[in-house]
Amino acid sequence: MADEPLVLGIETSCDETGVGIVRGHTLLADAVASSVDEHARYGGVVPEVASRAHLEAMVPTIERALKEAGVAASDLDGIAVTAGPGLAGALLVGVSAAKAYAYALGKPLYGVNHLASHICVDQLEHGALPEPTMALLVSGGHSSLLLSSDITSDVRPLGATIDDAAGEAFDKIARVLNLGFPGGPVIDRYAREGDAEAVAFPRGLTGPRDAPYDFSFSGLKTAVARWIEARRNAGEEVPVADVAASFQEAVVDVLTRKAVRACRDEGVDHLMIGGGVAANSRLRALAGERCAAAGITLRVPRPKLCTDNGAMVAALGAEMVARNRAPSDWDLSADSSLPVTEPHVPGTSHDPAHGTHDHVHETSAGNLHG
Ligand code: KG4
Ligand code: ZN
Repeated sequence: MADEPLVLGIETSCDETGVGIVRGHTLLADAVASSVDEHARYGGVVPEVASRAHLEAMVPTIERALKEAGVAASDLDGIAVTAGPGLAGALLVGVSAAKAYAYALGKPLYGVNHLASHICVDQLEHGALPEPTMALLVSGGHSSLLLSSDITSDVRPLGATIDDAAGEAFDKIARVLNLGFPGGPVIDRYAREGDAEAVAFPRGLTGPRDAPYDFSFSGLKTAVARWIEARRNAGEEVPVADVAASFQEAVVDVLTRKAVRACRDEGVDHLMIGGGVAANSRLRALAGERCAAAGITLRVPRPKLCTDNGAMVAALGAEMVARNRAPSDWDLSADSSLPVTEPHVPGTSHDPAHGTHDHVHETSAGNLHG
């Protein structure tokens, strides 16, 4: 609908320079420039390399997104940007670009949370998020169970990993198997050819006295690494596909079991899965089976919207505009450890009485948030 907010979103929290444009719940453009190849030889993301790549990719990616969407920058109702969490230097490039564009165009600026964006992106795929929504957020930096009654203002953590994130475990095991970086997609591929029951790897934090919604993947990681090492020391070949499948099964078994339990305990009948690991084919399949058995409706965005992108930031920005949330101040800073409980960074000098987005249209850039 033409009266839904038209928002451009910028994502630079890690190694993807993402620029997305949405109108309400409709995706118009999703331009991504990745520096992943530049990090591959280091086996992980090098922050300085990522920041430099963002700087080089930023303007061309914004221009590409505007062209793809077929809209003029002057038509935008707001500019959203990932304010955190993420790599400080990388975030800074996006935040600076967003401020420059917003100020020059006279548009409101919304510094938003990367994690809430991973959840909100599903509105582009499956329409408005049910309220409340249970979200299993699994990425390279985070693994959490979150309950949200309003993605712009209320995100409650029920549990999280106490050590490695799920994606981090995929990346580390891929390194031990010499499969390269990032590890998730390649393990996913190998696992399809393997036997998930070949090795019974441990399921972390699933004992009766363990925290019901917390995760732990470091014990699993060590168990897999030891198993591989023992094979190698004995001069035996490592069955890569079987190890990949058995490791993957241990991760997704625990993730889906705890997510379904959280829905049941909280009386929530919708589960959303987001973040890069949500692209995993086995996680998607097992979550589908277990949710169906429990009478829970599962929502998982298409894989390209699960890994980092700008559309997810635009989606949350559009929701901020639609719900008249206060824009951020011009001195918005990148916050590498922005808490998951803060979906956006509202401006302190903003007067909520004048906060509608219609008003913002009529106001000059200089006193937008005043
Ligand atoms: O959300 P994301 O793109 O970036 C962060 O915010 O961290 O997630 C990246 C993580 C990486 O650890 C990557 O290995 C993992 O998501 N990943 C996958 C798959 N695709 C990406 N993990 C398992 N299976 C996949 N198909
Ligand atoms: Zn992410």
